[in-house]
Amino acid sequence: MTEYDPRWSIVVDGFDPDLEPTIEAVMALVNGYGGTRAAIEEGTAVSRPATFIGGVFNTSELPQAAELQEPLPEIVVAPDWSRIEILIDGAPLRLDTAELLDMRRVLDMQRGILTRTWRLRDAEGRITACETLRFAALDDAHTHGLQLRITPENYRATLTVAFVLDGAVTNANATRHLDIQRVDSVGQDRVLLVQSRTRQSGYTLAFAAATALVGAEPAMLRRDDLLDATSATARFSWHAERGVAVIFQRLVGIYTSRDTDDPAGRAVERVRWSRDMGDGFAMQLERHTRAWAARWAAADVQVGADDELQRQIRFAIYHLIGAANPEDERTSVGARALTGERYRGHIFWDTETFVWPFYCYTHPKTARALLRYRALNLGGARRKAQAVGCVGALYPWEATDTGEETTPPFVRSPSGELLKILTGVEEHHISADVAYAVVQYIQATGDDAFVIDHGCEMLAEIARFWASRAIAGDDGHFHILRVIGPDEYHDTIDDNAYTNQLARWCIEQATSALANLGRTNSWRYSELIRQIGLSDAELARWQRVAAGLVDGFDPATGLIEQFRGYFDLEEIDLHDHDTAVATLDVRLGWARLQELKALKQADVVMLLFLLWDEFAPAVRRANYDYYAPRTTHDSSLSPGMHALVAARLGDLAEAEDFLRRAARIDLDFTRKGWAGAAGGVHIAALGSIWQALAFGFLGLRPTDEGLRVDPQIPPSWNTVVVPFTWQKSQLRFHADASGPLRATLVAGRPVQVARGDGPWQLVRGEVTL
Ligand code: IFM
Repeated sequence: MTEYDPRWSIVVDGFDPDLEPTIEAVMALVNGYGGTRAAIEEGTAVSRPATFIGGVFNTSELPQAAELQEPLPEIVVAPDWSRIEILIDGAPLRLDTAELLDMRRVLDMQRGILTRTWRLRDAEGRITACETLRFAALDDAHTHGLQLRITPENYRATLTVAFVLDGAVTNANATRHLDIQRVDSVGQDRVLLVQSRTRQSGYTLAFAAATALVGAEPAMLRRDDLLDATSATARFSWHAERGVAVIFQRLVGIYTSRDTDDPAGRAVERVRWSRDMGDGFAMQLERHTRAWAARWAAADVQVGADDELQRQIRFAIYHLIGAANPEDERTSVGARALTGERYRGHIFWDTETFVWPFYCYTHPKTARALLRYRALNLGGARRKAQAVGCVGALYPWEATDTGEETTPPFVRSPSGELLKILTGVEEHHISADVAYAVVQYIQATGDDAFVIDHGCEMLAEIARFWASRAIAGDDGHFHILRVIGPDEYHDTIDDNAYTNQLARWCIEQATSALANLGRTNSWRYSELIRQIGLSDAELARWQRVAAGLVDGFDPATGLIEQFRGYFDLEEIDLHDHDTAVATLDVRLGWARLQELKALKQADVVMLLFLLWDEFAPAVRRANYDYYAPRTTHDSSLSPGMHALVAARLGDLAEAEDFLRRAARIDLDFTRKGWAGAAGGVHIAALGSIWQALAFGFLGLRPTDEGLRVDPQIPPSWNTVVVPFTWQKSQLRFHADASGPLRATLVAGRPVQVARGDGPWQLVRGEVTL
């Protein structure tokens, strides 16, 4: 059985068909470019092998589900590169045709390698031991690798192993998005190729594979290439001797027309290059593990004395690193990353608010690429703003590769009701969430080129949207009506405090960004003002709206009313509420939710974090204490945010409890179906874990002057270590539960750091704060 390091590994022993969909997602191989679920290579009745490639969406001609009424784009299941078939004397050997003696799967998150060791006994008593090793290269994202080692333990026979490139794939809803264009064996060296095309979006996908035996050739070895309408297979047969292992290695090259004009040529060339370079497979694996080591060096959050928590944190970081492609500015991170089909792979506010900060402070290049995706899709945001009768930029609630709104208009509830989905129509805070990321990025990186090329324009268009979205009321204030806030359990509400306060903040940020541009680059400033047609009258309205937007704050109690009328709603005791059993909408129905104070997820609590410095300590405390007990956490986005704010408030036991809850969302394998990770890992929840550690427990607060750090470390953890990239410098914070805090400059220029609200210190080497 494979040895493993418990602090770096996800390990599953045995086989439970009920858990398989969750395991496939949790143990997926991800490299930003693509994701491959960890399906058992030879297949079982419950296995759903699926590879997703970032940005490859397609809309089927027919609605994917009758109730949707209109077809929607969804992330495409690409050809399966990892399928193998094993036969003993012509009889298939699979988990469901033989007795499973033992099986262990290990996802080595440190190196991005998935191994599986298993032994099967067939009806004739023949025992076969197998081991596969797979990787999706992080350094060269187009290269994937699969190794199989097979040993007949107690018999001699003819063994056959087939390595299939399988284009006959469908999405889970049985939609077939691909037409196969070419199945081939290319050149003297017989590189197999399957080329397909997405039916509506027209992306070409090319998968090429070179498979070879490693080591001494067994007796009577023969290789056949089988090409049919949808798949290309390299099949090896040999006379297998008892106890003698045979090893095969397969390198796979993947390109699409999103990458190049000649995907097939590049895929074949990539495979040849990988195969022929030095030691081929081993060399690729070595480069891949070095790439993971480099990413971990800038991102590995360590907790001193808790192996289980450490593993959970690394699980979050593994999937975060693998969710986004620094080289691709035309797509972004879907709600379940590249590990499952839930939400059709669509991109939500989850990216900017929950996931993106991880990249901003560990790998700014990725953060920039994700912001460029929003910048390049300003057109779609402008069209959506116009569609709701406004101007400026309103980003789609759900988006894909096109940047257009793709939220489904209806959904079938668990009880069978056809429900209208209003998020695409009313959940407008996403534009503020994008702006928040833009401001954070500018502050964290000082990337002037981004500010000039996109940042100011995005901020101005978003501010412009809010100014046009707000209406003047008879009370002399401005209001934003008919929205949904982060708490989606109340729709068509007025003056959601989260939305209004961030709208005001967006206008202030845009105003100061434009003023700054005017000072530093008057040419670009004039060009931008002309280009977007921003008049003095419009700028004056911005200021009136910002000054007059209601914020829900009651100075008498210090409470922020989540939306107008919220305080008049009915109380509900949530002590017994268990999301894993049933979410509150399922328990009570949608209409009843509107009458109750119960929240789906952090709303005002989220606002406290985002605009932290604007709230007095007593206001933070009052609002957290008020809203936390009224929150169901039915959304996976909620516990991590509560962990963050609770930690900042010094409620360490509660913060730790929330953190562990967030960490269990994907790793509690007893949560089946959509409640668990079957539809893909909950990447926003994983992002919130990183944020809770960095901004909550370590208490990092980025400011224009430098970084403030105010650690609150649970004694049982001993220490927390957080690497953090700031202004192109790499820092490492080491906080001890007993008090000491060290900051080390690992690379780059000295950086200003302060403990809490204390004086600034310049970190050159190492300082104790
Ligand atoms: O964006 C989230 C939303 O906040 C809650 N429901 C699920 C969406 C996708 O994760």
